[in-house]
Amino acid sequence: MLRTTCLLLVCAISVTHQSCSIGPQADPHGRAQAEDQHNYHEACVEGLRSQIRKEFEASLQYLLMGAYFAQDDVNLAGFTKMFFEHADEERGHGIQFIEYLRHRGDEEINLLGSDPILPILGKNTWADGEEALRDALEMEKIVSGSIKKLIDVCDNDAKQDYHAADWLTGTFLEEQFQGQRHLAGLINSLSTFRRDHEHLADWMFSNNLLSA
Ligand SMILES: [Fe+2]
Repeated sequence: MLRTTCLLLVCAISVTHQSCSIGPQADPHGRAQAEDQHNYHEACVEGLRSQIRKEFEASLQYLLMGAYFAQDDVNLAGFTKMFFEHADEERGHGIQFIEYLRHRGDEEINLLGSDPILPILGKNTWADGEEALRDALEMEKIVSGSIKKLIDVCDNDAKQDYHAADWLTGTFLEEQFQGQRHLAGLINSLSTFRRDHEHLADWMFSNNLLSA
Protein backbone atom coordinates (compact mmCIF):
# COMPACT_ATOMS: atom_id res chain seq x y z
CA MET A 1 0.00 0.00 0.00
CA LEU A 2 2.83 2.33 1.03
CA ARG A 3 4.75 1.39 -2.17
CA THR A 4 1.70 2.06 -4.35
CA THR A 5 1.19 5.44 -2.71
CA CYS A 6 4.85 6.32 -3.30
CA LEU A 7 4.67 5.30 -6.96
CA LEU A 8 1.54 7.38 -7.51
CA LEU A 9 3.28 10.33 -5.86
CA VAL A 10 6.30 9.93 -8.15
CA CYS A 11 3.91 9.89 -11.13
CA ALA A 12 2.12 12.99 -9.94
CA ILE A 13 5.41 14.89 -9.54
CA SER A 14 6.85 13.75 -12.86
CA VAL A 15 3.68 14.26 -14.90
CA THR A 16 4.55 17.94 -15.43
CA HIS A 17 7.83 16.90 -17.07
CA GLN A 18 7.07 13.67 -18.94
CA SER A 19 4.61 10.79 -19.15
CA CYS A 20 4.81 8.33 -16.30
CA SER A 21 4.89 4.55 -16.56
CA ILE A 22 5.00 1.91 -13.88
CA GLY A 23 6.00 -1.69 -14.51
CA PRO A 24 7.98 -3.30 -17.33
CA GLN A 25 8.06 -0.17 -19.51
CA ALA A 26 9.84 1.64 -16.71
CA ASP A 27 12.84 -0.65 -17.28
CA PRO A 28 15.05 1.05 -19.90
CA HIS A 29 16.44 -2.35 -20.93
CA GLY A 30 12.99 -3.92 -21.59
CA ARG A 31 11.75 -7.22 -20.21
CA ALA A 32 14.28 -9.98 -19.71
CA GLN A 33 13.82 -13.06 -21.93
CA ALA A 34 14.89 -16.60 -21.07
CA GLU A 35 15.22 -17.83 -24.64
CA ASP A 36 18.36 -17.29 -26.70
CA GLN A 37 18.75 -17.06 -30.45
CA HIS A 38 21.21 -19.95 -30.59
CA ASN A 39 18.90 -22.63 -29.21
CA TYR A 40 15.34 -21.32 -29.40
CA HIS A 41 13.82 -21.82 -32.84
CA GLU A 42 10.21 -21.09 -33.67
CA ALA A 43 9.56 -24.26 -35.72
CA CYS A 44 10.62 -26.48 -32.84
CA VAL A 45 8.68 -24.45 -30.30
CA GLU A 46 5.60 -24.51 -32.54
CA GLY A 47 5.88 -28.31 -32.73
CA LEU A 48 6.20 -28.59 -28.96
CA ARG A 49 3.06 -26.52 -28.58
CA SER A 50 1.11 -28.69 -31.03
CA GLN A 51 2.09 -31.81 -29.08
CA ILE A 52 0.12 -30.51 -26.08
CA ARG A 53 -3.13 -31.00 -28.01
CA LYS A 54 -2.17 -34.55 -28.99
CA GLU A 55 -1.50 -35.49 -25.37
CA PHE A 56 -4.90 -34.16 -24.30
CA GLU A 57 -6.56 -35.90 -27.27
CA ALA A 58 -5.01 -39.18 -26.13
CA SER A 59 -6.11 -38.48 -22.56
CA LEU A 60 -9.72 -37.97 -23.67
CA GLN A 61 -9.67 -41.20 -25.68
CA TYR A 62 -8.46 -43.17 -22.65
CA LEU A 63 -11.17 -41.49 -20.58
CA LEU A 64 -13.82 -42.82 -22.98
CA MET A 65 -12.25 -46.28 -22.88
CA GLY A 66 -12.37 -46.30 -19.07
CA ALA A 67 -15.97 -45.07 -19.10
CA TYR A 68 -17.05 -47.76 -21.55
CA PHE A 69 -15.69 -50.62 -19.45
CA ALA A 70 -17.36 -49.13 -16.35
CA GLN A 71 -20.85 -49.50 -17.90
CA ASP A 72 -23.09 -51.85 -15.92
CA ASP A 73 -23.55 -54.11 -18.94
CA VAL A 74 -19.79 -54.37 -19.53
CA ASN A 75 -18.46 -54.21 -15.96
CA LEU A 76 -14.76 -54.86 -16.45
CA ALA A 77 -13.31 -52.80 -13.60
CA GLY A 78 -9.68 -53.73 -14.28
CA PHE A 79 -9.84 -52.25 -17.78
CA THR A 80 -11.51 -49.13 -16.40
CA LYS A 81 -8.79 -48.72 -13.76
CA MET A 82 -6.02 -49.12 -16.33
CA PHE A 83 -7.53 -46.77 -18.91
CA PHE A 84 -8.32 -44.07 -16.34
CA GLU A 85 -4.69 -44.30 -15.20
CA HIS A 86 -3.59 -43.89 -18.83
CA ALA A 87 -5.89 -40.85 -19.14
CA ASP A 88 -4.15 -39.27 -16.13
CA GLU A 89 -0.73 -40.08 -17.61
CA GLU A 90 -1.53 -38.43 -20.93
CA ARG A 91 -2.92 -35.35 -19.20
CA GLY A 92 0.31 -35.29 -17.19
CA HIS A 93 2.30 -35.39 -20.44
CA GLY A 94 0.37 -32.38 -21.73
CA ILE A 95 1.30 -30.50 -18.56
CA GLN A 96 4.95 -31.58 -18.94
CA PHE A 97 5.03 -30.04 -22.42
CA ILE A 98 3.56 -26.80 -21.06
CA GLU A 99 6.14 -26.76 -18.25
CA TYR A 100 8.96 -27.45 -20.70
CA LEU A 101 7.87 -24.61 -22.99
CA ARG A 102 7.79 -22.22 -20.04
CA HIS A 103 11.18 -23.53 -18.90
CA ARG A 104 12.57 -22.53 -22.29
CA GLY A 105 11.00 -19.09 -22.20
CA ASP A 106 7.98 -19.60 -24.46
CA GLU A 107 5.31 -16.99 -23.75
CA GLU A 108 2.48 -18.18 -26.02
CA ILE A 109 -0.81 -18.04 -24.13
CA ASN A 110 -3.04 -19.76 -26.72
CA LEU A 111 -1.44 -23.16 -26.09
CA LEU A 112 -4.47 -25.25 -27.05
CA GLY A 113 -5.43 -23.55 -30.32
CA SER A 114 -9.00 -22.66 -31.18
CA ASP A 115 -10.37 -26.00 -32.45
CA PRO A 116 -12.10 -28.34 -30.01
CA ILE A 117 -9.91 -31.05 -28.50
CA LEU A 118 -11.50 -34.42 -29.27
CA PRO A 119 -10.61 -38.05 -28.46
CA ILE A 120 -7.76 -39.01 -30.79
CA LEU A 121 -9.48 -42.08 -32.28
CA GLY A 122 -13.01 -40.67 -32.12
CA LYS A 123 -14.30 -43.94 -30.69
CA ASN A 124 -16.51 -44.75 -27.69
CA THR A 125 -17.42 -48.46 -27.83
CA TRP A 126 -15.34 -51.62 -28.08
CA ALA A 127 -16.25 -55.22 -28.88
CA ASP A 128 -14.04 -56.53 -26.07
CA GLY A 129 -10.96 -55.84 -23.99
CA GLU A 130 -8.57 -57.00 -26.69
CA GLU A 131 -9.94 -54.50 -29.20
CA ALA A 132 -9.45 -51.69 -26.68
CA LEU A 133 -5.90 -52.80 -25.90
CA ARG A 134 -5.10 -52.93 -29.62
CA ASP A 135 -6.52 -49.40 -30.00
CA ALA A 136 -4.41 -48.25 -27.07
CA LEU A 137 -1.29 -49.68 -28.70
CA GLU A 138 -2.18 -48.03 -32.01
CA MET A 139 -2.73 -44.73 -30.24
CA GLU A 140 0.67 -44.92 -28.54
CA LYS A 141 2.29 -45.63 -31.90
CA ILE A 142 0.60 -42.55 -33.40
CA VAL A 143 1.95 -40.43 -30.53
CA SER A 144 5.45 -41.97 -30.90
CA GLY A 145 5.35 -41.11 -34.60
CA SER A 146 4.44 -37.49 -33.91
CA ILE A 147 7.24 -37.21 -31.33
CA LYS A 148 9.71 -38.65 -33.87
CA LYS A 149 8.63 -35.98 -36.40
CA LEU A 150 9.00 -33.34 -33.72
CA ILE A 151 12.54 -34.52 -32.93
CA ASP A 152 13.36 -34.22 -36.64
CA VAL A 153 12.06 -30.63 -36.65
CA CYS A 154 13.99 -29.68 -33.49
CA ASP A 155 17.15 -31.40 -34.74
CA ASN A 156 17.03 -29.70 -38.12
CA ASP A 157 20.48 -29.12 -39.66
CA ALA A 158 20.18 -25.39 -39.94
CA LYS A 159 18.51 -24.70 -36.62
CA GLN A 160 19.32 -27.30 -34.04
CA ASP A 161 17.78 -27.34 -30.61
CA TYR A 162 19.75 -30.16 -29.02
CA HIS A 163 18.14 -29.73 -25.63
CA ALA A 164 14.58 -30.12 -26.93
CA ALA A 165 15.59 -33.06 -29.12
CA ASP A 166 17.34 -34.71 -26.17
CA TRP A 167 14.40 -34.11 -23.82
CA LEU A 168 11.95 -35.53 -26.37
CA THR A 169 14.12 -38.58 -27.02
CA GLY A 170 15.21 -39.34 -23.46
CA THR A 171 11.97 -38.56 -21.66
CA PHE A 172 9.15 -39.15 -24.09
CA LEU A 173 10.29 -41.70 -26.62
CA GLU A 174 11.65 -43.83 -23.79
CA GLU A 175 8.27 -43.77 -22.03
CA GLN A 176 6.44 -44.38 -25.32
CA PHE A 177 8.51 -47.48 -26.05
CA GLN A 178 7.95 -48.81 -22.54
CA GLY A 179 4.21 -48.25 -22.98
CA GLN A 180 4.15 -49.95 -26.37
CA ARG A 181 6.04 -52.95 -25.01
CA HIS A 182 3.69 -53.18 -22.03
CA LEU A 183 0.54 -53.01 -24.15
CA ALA A 184 1.86 -55.51 -26.70
CA GLY A 185 2.59 -57.90 -23.81
CA LEU A 186 -0.93 -57.44 -22.39
CA ILE A 187 -2.53 -58.10 -25.79
CA ASN A 188 -0.57 -61.29 -26.21
CA SER A 189 -1.36 -62.48 -22.67
CA LEU A 190 -5.06 -61.77 -23.20
CA SER A 191 -5.16 -63.57 -26.55
CA THR A 192 -3.54 -66.58 -24.88
CA PHE A 193 -6.30 -66.46 -22.23
CA ARG A 194 -8.93 -66.26 -24.93
CA ARG A 195 -7.68 -69.25 -26.83
CA ASP A 196 -9.38 -71.70 -24.48
CA HIS A 197 -11.70 -69.55 -22.37
CA GLU A 198 -12.98 -66.92 -24.71
CA HIS A 199 -16.22 -66.17 -22.86
CA LEU A 200 -14.40 -65.73 -19.54
CA ALA A 201 -11.10 -64.30 -20.70
CA ASP A 202 -11.87 -60.56 -20.52
CA TRP A 203 -13.38 -60.94 -17.04
CA MET A 204 -10.41 -62.96 -15.71
CA PHE A 205 -7.95 -60.62 -17.35
CA SER A 206 -9.76 -57.58 -15.98
CA ASN A 207 -9.48 -59.01 -12.46
CA ASN A 208 -5.76 -59.45 -13.04
CA LEU A 209 -5.47 -55.79 -14.00
CA LEU A 210 -7.16 -54.76 -10.75
CA SER A 211 -4.34 -56.29 -8.75
CA ALA A 212 -1.60 -54.99 -11.09
FE1 LIG B 1 1.73 -39.19 -23.87
